[in-house]
Amino acid sequence: MRFSDPFEQRFAEMITHYPTKRSVLVPTLLYAQDEVGFLSDEVITEIAGRLELTELDVRNVISYYSMLTTKPRGKFNVQVCTNIACMLRGGEELLEHCEKRLGIGHKGTTSDGLFSLEEVECIGGCSWAPAVQVNYEFHENLTAEKMDAVLEGCRRKGMQ
Ligand code: FES
Repeated sequence: MRFSDPFEQRFAEMITHYPTKRSVLVPTLLYAQDEVGFLSDEVITEIAGRLELTELDVRNVISYYSMLTTKPRGKFNVQVCTNIACMLRGGEELLEHCEKRLGIGHKGTTSDGLFSLEEVECIGGCSWAPAVQVNYEFHENLTAEKMDAVLEGCRRKGMQ
């Protein structure tokens, strides 16, 4: 399969920085996912071949990271942390709020393909709980009102 020229340039650069090819697996998967939308069977075969890994090696890594997916997601992947610090500061209520607002549950995707929702473990924003990650952006100290503003911002961006 063919990736874009910017992907190929990044890949060619990254591979020179490490003693083993395996070391670039996670960033390569992220770049491929950004480009294709998800990690399809074809992408997995391609990356396993390039990095001299088995497809099982690649799938094992994908299953470990909540940022990586083998299924298509919405344009904005809303990950709500309900781990201890966030739970104590309203993370579960925030997840329920998102479920109602978006009309989907955990691992669901809206029918317009704009949003996916996931309940996740700690995303490293405990000091500013409750925290949510949308694609690569973090949102912290959230309330229902602030969450609505985040979702609305995504909706506007998604329509551009
Ligand atoms: S517990 Fe939610 S970010 Fe750490």
